[in-house]
Amino acid sequence: MEGVKDSSRILILDYGSQFTQLIARRVREARVYSEIHPPTRTVEWIRNWKPTGIILSGGPNSVYGEDVPSADPALLDIAPVLGICYGMQLIAHLQGGEVIGAGKREYGRADLVVNEPAGLFGGFDAGEKTPVWMSHGDHVDVPPPGFRVTASSGSVAIAAMRHESKPVHAVQFHPEVAHTARGADIISNFVFDVCGARPSWTPGTFIDEETLRIRERVGSARVICGLSGGVDSAVAAALVHRAIGDQLTCIFVDTGLLRMHERDQVERTFRANLGIDLVTVRAEERFLGALAGVDDPEKKRTIIGHTFIDVFEEAAEKVGEGVAYLVQGTLYPDVIESASPRGGPSVTIKTHHNVGGLKPGMKFKLIEPLRELFKDEVRNVGRELGLPEEIVGRHPFPGPGLAIRVLSDVTEEKLEVLRKADAIYLEEIRAAGLYDDIWQAFAVLLPVRSVGVMGDFRTYENVVALRAVTSTDGMTADWFPFPHDALARVSSRIINEVRGVNRVVYDISSKPPATIEWE
Ligand code: XMP
Repeated sequence: MEGVKDSSRILILDYGSQFTQLIARRVREARVYSEIHPPTRTVEWIRNWKPTGIILSGGPNSVYGEDVPSADPALLDIAPVLGICYGMQLIAHLQGGEVIGAGKREYGRADLVVNEPAGLFGGFDAGEKTPVWMSHGDHVDVPPPGFRVTASSGSVAIAAMRHESKPVHAVQFHPEVAHTARGADIISNFVFDVCGARPSWTPGTFIDEETLRIRERVGSARVICGLSGGVDSAVAAALVHRAIGDQLTCIFVDTGLLRMHERDQVERTFRANLGIDLVTVRAEERFLGALAGVDDPEKKRTIIGHTFIDVFEEAAEKVGEGVAYLVQGTLYPDVIESASPRGGPSVTIKTHHNVGGLKPGMKFKLIEPLRELFKDEVRNVGRELGLPEEIVGRHPFPGPGLAIRVLSDVTEEKLEVLRKADAIYLEEIRAAGLYDDIWQAFAVLLPVRSVGVMGDFRTYENVVALRAVTSTDGMTADWFPFPHDALARVSSRIINEVRGVNRVVYDISSKPPATIEWE
């Protein structure tokens, strides 16, 4: 079988743009496989990788800067090339054009006028005006010999150019950003018309290939997988189960820090619906014992991480002899991030490590079947594998669980209050049909008490904060503009139904500067 990744694939060289991952996602949304690599890859390496096309990303530098990332001009002869922003300036610079600084950065929307409705702009009208997103300091002032201008904007005469006979194209704006109205058309024109790629990157082909690969690698060995209740480990487990069936045992640790009915849901989905061999470890007392009296969030995380590894290892021992592999739900953004110190300048914000993380020196070999996927692709693979929407569509949940949402020392009583408030909140969000509009929503138990009245009595009780944010990757987030009637229902239900809470507040902070979790 010809592998999808051996057929069409686009190489993206990352010159440090904050949008590089978006380029890869857009290409994959067009169903063509793509990977991000540092610009230090040699021409020989790139040739061996056999790209169907190459995209040079934007970046924060000027081509005239010192020690800035560059490219070997031989790159332009390996496969069709698209330069974006800095990538365009680099092509101009390498080919004898002129790049100048505008004196100030242009950042924001601009109107692009298409001169030549072909190539990247195939299917556009001649003279068509279309909004694009600009973010640059320098721009190309004189195109290199052999290049012609294909689009302009008010502030940049050379907003796009192409070589007259070679498949080398460049744009000053960012087609990968949603504000560029026809960005997806431009990327798909490059990928299909210029590069001649085939749309073979689909969840179905990914699953077929990956299951073959897992089967081959594992042979008859036994494999374990820690489930967290989250999307990534669920999809990884379902995929490995599709590949090797009963050779897989999943382990789910109930830390006592889970949300309402979470253990039941995991057991139902994996054991009952998917028929996966699932071991549940009830370790609530152990975690709560270890957390007793601790209110520093970093200490909580460390304690939970260590306890988790101990509990998990003990459970893994019990699975028996012959366990050689451990499945982890590592995703592509984690892999790109760890590649950057070796030369890729993309500045990725550090993601939090999941509690399911490995201890160095653990005896298992790792299977990371999702390490080439972005989160939205993981969800699609999960759907294709038959996982229920309540698992694939669910909001992210932090590894340390409710421990970092009780903003003081963790006790069973506080967890109970928080769990009830959180369940009401999510129930109302679902009932209002808002769940899928929100990236993450949860309740937080604040370490303050406030005065209230109930009937004839004065009360002195807990405050619950509600958080709901929209986001695409959790790195930045906006607070969700909750309809007031829905908020009102949540508030009155929590105050009436959850004993110990007499006040509810809604968090209207964006990230940055606030984080999503309160800790
Ligand atoms: P912050 O609070 O840093 O959160 O804005 C960004 C995203 O990361 C999640 N988060 C965690 N996930 N272990 C995790 O697995 C953690 O320790 C952790 N802390 C925060 C958070 O829920 C949000 O989705």
